[in-house]
Amino acid sequence: MANILVTGGLGYIGSHTVVELIQHNHTVIIIDNLSNSELKVLSGIQEITGVLPQFEQIDICDKKAVLQCFSSHAPIDAVIHFAAYKAVGESVQKPLEYYANNVYGLLVLLEAMRETNTSNLVFSSSCTVYGQPLELPVTEQAPLQKATSPYGNTKQMCEDIIQDYIASGVSFKASLLRYFNPIGAHPSACIGELPKGVPNNLVPFITQTAAGIRNELQVFGNDYNTPDGSAIRDYIYVVDLAKAHVAAMNRLLNTDSAHMCDICNLGTGTGVSVLEMITAFEQATGVRVPYRISPRRAGDIEQVWASTDYANTLLHWKAQTPLADVMRSAWKWEKKIRGIK
Ligand code: NAD
Ligand code: UFG
Repeated sequence: MANILVTGGLGYIGSHTVVELIQHNHTVIIIDNLSNSELKVLSGIQEITGVLPQFEQIDICDKKAVLQCFSSHAPIDAVIHFAAYKAVGESVQKPLEYYANNVYGLLVLLEAMRETNTSNLVFSSSCTVYGQPLELPVTEQAPLQKATSPYGNTKQMCEDIIQDYIASGVSFKASLLRYFNPIGAHPSACIGELPKGVPNNLVPFITQTAAGIRNELQVFGNDYNTPDGSAIRDYIYVVDLAKAHVAAMNRLLNTDSAHMCDICNLGTGTGVSVLEMITAFEQATGVRVPYRISPRRAGDIEQVWASTDYANTLLHWKAQTPLADVMRSAWKWEKKIRGIK
């Protein structure tokens, strides 16, 4: 069993991945600066797994502290790097903060890995690197388009940095995972997404509207060139996504080659429209979601969903959870954090 360092391990996707890693008997060390998470996530992980993972409150940009962490937990077999800022709109307002945290954070991590001979990295990328693809479903070979936000640009830059580092001939293996739209919460409702303020993302907005915290959901655009006019995405259950990280990491650890860079879509392969998402939530939970049609949101693309063939073959992994179950998990989590019976 391996010793895994998880940066951003108290965040939404990180915490679900930590649970999967522990359940596969790996030892986990979490680094997080709590900029977008809370310490109580640790107890949630412990409640599910019976294990309290080791935790270091460290900023990934603090090289001295990161190096210290690598040496005090040596040997680290692999790193899963989630720590980053992730709000597309905010990145337009705060580009320097996004480049500093997301790009410089990766550089610090790679330097620390080089200095400690740590050679396996799983990296959180995003389908945002594709922009609006010309062909759907989008495959990993599709050309990347110029990013429409500093956030998207940080993901493209980080992918390039990792690939350039491997191309330099070092002994290093990486898996670049391009997530589509992660949604839902652990079925136990012990961990889930904790959006701060008004949620940007669709599913937290749906659950908060269902809980009565928001009066109504705005559907951003019903004049897209899609069957019902609303935009289409590939929504993947966060627990399925977490399992893919374990598979990607195992592949790195079990491949003999000294250099390797996997690039893999993580989605379901199915596109679902905003209006279909509302119906799916209402049917799964029996709770109504009032909504109105609003203008398109600036910067949104029309439709994207993943080709999952490569991930299915490479990782022997497939997203399996039905959307109704995912919606019920999101609603169970919302009710738990709001104290709703
Ligand atoms: P999140 O904000 O819930 O988790 C990120 C965690 O990293 C947080 O706990 C935060 O406190 C921590 N963090 C941020 N900067 C840090 C720093 N400098 N040092 C230490 N810790 C730091 O986000 P998430 O949804 O779990 O996303 C995880 C990763 O996946 C991110 O890299 C994100 O860009 C990427 N991603 C997310 C989505 C999505 O829709 N959620 C989609 C595609 C890609
Ligand atoms: N939407 C609404 N109303 C809302 C919120 C969203 O209609 O209140 C619509 C959006 O317009 C879009 C769809 O729901 O058509 C999904 O929107 P999200 O904000 O949930 O997700 P995005 O596809 O815009 O972006 C998300 C993450 C990005 C990430 C991207 C791909 O926010 O960080 O998925 O992984 F890059």
